[in-house]
Amino acid sequence: MDLGVEHVEQRVATGPLPAQEEIDDLVARALTHATPHGEGAVADYIPVLARADPALFGVCVVDVDGHAHAVGDTQAAFSVQSISKAFVYALVREHLGHDVVADRVGVNNTGLPFNSVMALELNGGHPLNPMVNAGALATTALVPGASADEQWATIQAGLSAFAGRPLEVDDEVYRSEAATNQRNRAIARLLESYGRVELDPLAVVDVYTRQCALSVTAHDLAVMGATLADGGVNPVTGEQVVAADVCRDTLAVMATNGLYERSGEWLLEIGLPGKSGVSGGIVTIAPGKAGIGVYSPRLDPAGNSVRGQRATAYLSRALGLNIFASDAHVPTRGSHR
Ligand code: DON
Repeated sequence: MDLGVEHVEQRVATGPLPAQEEIDDLVARALTHATPHGEGAVADYIPVLARADPALFGVCVVDVDGHAHAVGDTQAAFSVQSISKAFVYALVREHLGHDVVADRVGVNNTGLPFNSVMALELNGGHPLNPMVNAGALATTALVPGASADEQWATIQAGLSAFAGRPLEVDDEVYRSEAATNQRNRAIARLLESYGRVELDPLAVVDVYTRQCALSVTAHDLAVMGATLADGGVNPVTGEQVVAADVCRDTLAVMATNGLYERSGEWLLEIGLPGKSGVSGGIVTIAPGKAGIGVYSPRLDPAGNSVRGQRATAYLSRALGLNIFASDAHVPTRGSHR
């Protein structure tokens, strides 16, 4: 959609976080607030994920100065799963630009489960959003590289730059998903039939399955989120990973569909762009302020971490992060009030 604003300078307005000690205290309180909520189920449609320890729970905030505030199991490793979609989208958006990516993979909410085939069929084969599987597969197909191996190298290097350390594939998770991902293969074939994937669709699924199997921690997610919060600069390494306007677009697609069919409820309660994954991670971004990484494997029916949502909701309130919140302005002299 061309609204004719390309030439208008982007202004940015954000406020400060509380003092460091207060953030430490509130992160600890967020963990305590969410810990009693042991409901939900660990994902088992990818067989190896069923073995996750449901008691693990970590909460980490990394601010745009690179300070980490971590409580609980923030160094426990898990596969990044769908959270990779946000960061691969950012890499593709950096490479191809705003208009091409918006046209190829869409930006609207599907209102349907993350692995929906109907979402594609009901929209004439045009993926609706890169945060669900059809759009994510179409996005992975657009990753720069002359071969699937080159595309994979771009993804691994790119997500590692977001995390500020080399990320490796969890081979057991990769093999477990590769052996059971018939549905993603079907979605890729469907994309091919609509002319939306020009590469070998099964090779695209393989790269996508690898990206989902990259092993991360809640601390990594917080650094990756802080990079999107900081105009694309990793606040720990100082590396400019993507441009600031790429972060802006990435946060917009996360806000529309980052928590699948619960994305509206998430925005209402938390008011921040976030992205969840079926292994129990959620990354949340407070633009200009911080990234939040949480990990707790028990999921709600849509596939979002139950404790993770509660801890993030607590932090959004307590740290003043909701981007839709405002206080009444104190009238100045000459105001019309
Ligand atoms: O494609 C899949 O089914 C998984 N690799 C990722 C799904 C996922 O994380 C959805 N999350 N809630």
